[in-house]
Amino acid sequence: MQSSLETFIATCDELSQAGSDAGSCVAAVAPLMLDLARSGSELLTDGQMREDPKMYARNAIHLGAADGVSLFALVWLPGQWTPIHDHGTWGVVGILDGVLEERSYVHIGNSITDDDKIELQPGGIVLLSPGSVSTFVPNPDHIHITGVPKDRKKVVSLHLYGRLMNNYHYYDLKNHSRRLIEVSHFESS
Ligand SMILES: [Fe+2]
Repeated sequence: MQSSLETFIATCDELSQAGSDAGSCVAAVAPLMLDLARSGSELLTDGQMREDPKMYARNAIHLGAADGVSLFALVWLPGQWTPIHDHGTWGVVGILDGVLEERSYVHIGNSITDDDKIELQPGGIVLLSPGSVSTFVPNPDHIHITGVPKDRKKVVSLHLYGRLMNNYHYYDLKNHSRRLIEVSHFESS
């Protein structure tokens, strides 16, 4: 199963290096992610599915150059959520196990040009079942929280990003601001 992941990463890398636009990248990667998502969590080794009782766990499968693609397996225990964030790049998500919830936020007014005076309001919600694939592109920012309510079971999901995803904008609803924060990960074994 690891060979299918390696082939997937190599294909995504080629797309990224070719300088394709974000829309073309997600259109090309989504059906490839669908094949992986249908394989379920048997696709991954135990070392790629570590969980953390303190927060959702990001298991790095591939970390490329700063402008290259990166792939993570995320393990979400019931009740674990991201903060409100964006990604600053395109991405493709595939669900291996469980139902992942994504809640969007919409910026009111003109596009965001500064790190303050940001007015967000809740937008739509998607529930992603095993085998589902979702995609996003930047500009406008894809602002959202992702996670699993306490009354649902653990989720395992695959996340392919168009850059090295080691930081993102954290949005502070109360202060109408955002700031760039580092996001940690486990090295896969
Ligand atoms: Fe996200």
